[in-house]
Amino acid sequence: MTTHLTLHPDIVTFPDPHTLCLDAAYRLIALAAAKTRSGGVFSVALAGGRTPAMLYTDLAELPLRTTIDWEKVHLFFGDDRFVEPESDFSNYRLANDSLISKVPIPLENVHRIKTEMKDIEEARNLYETDLRSFFSTPYPRFDLILLGMGEDGHCASLFPGKAALQETSSWVTVSEPGLKPFVPRITVTYPVLNHARNLLFMVAGADKAETLQKVMEGPFNPDNLPSQKVSPIDGSHTWLIDAPASRLLKKVS
Ligand code: 6PG
Repeated sequence: MTTHLTLHPDIVTFPDPHTLCLDAAYRLIALAAAKTRSGGVFSVALAGGRTPAMLYTDLAELPLRTTIDWEKVHLFFGDDRFVEPESDFSNYRLANDSLISKVPIPLENVHRIKTEMKDIEEARNLYETDLRSFFSTPYPRFDLILLGMGEDGHCASLFPGKAALQETSSWVTVSEPGLKPFVPRITVTYPVLNHARNLLFMVAGADKAETLQKVMEGPFNPDNLPSQKVSPIDGSHTWLIDAPASRLLKKVS
């Protein structure tokens, strides 16, 4: 069902993470088709985490894989940990193993955060430059940004109480993690998230229920619950939630 709560996104609930991810896959396919059939390229920012990983696996499998014109897709990352790209903690590795290596996307269309660099500020600058040259607009207009939400209410690498939450001019910033593994991260900022054409949260699992209830229906306190401040200025805003994660929401059955 779809409803509106404190935040005002569209909320759609599913019995389990599998149906949730399949729905996300169909949404991505429809958005990509609408953009690429009219001659445009489709830009999407990927998320890390268990739930988005299931979506990537779905997209890489037949028949869904063949429904996307991969040559016209540009993949970016909402955030990544500052680790070698081969690391188990790398969001790039997760996306590469589950999706990128399995679909016919040109390598130049994969906009990785260069987390193997020695200097994290240089890696940040490089990614910001990549974004600014791809989007020659005052703010990036991603066709789709995918996000997960952590148990502490973070999304991308915007963690409770951290300086990255205050960034209003840079598109990309360095972020100190609030959770294990305690390695620094590079993340897009609120201005990027809030200029998306379409923003899709994917949240699954009973461990998210309490936080989700606070994010959706509790007092506005984005310093403690960073996901509360994600709200596209001129774009769709949708949360796909499975039944265990949505069980404490008052207005969703
Ligand atoms: C990351 C993600 C992060 C993630 C959430 C939810 O790099 O860890 O970008 O924001 O999406 O923590 O992750 P799960 O889907 O695994 O709960």
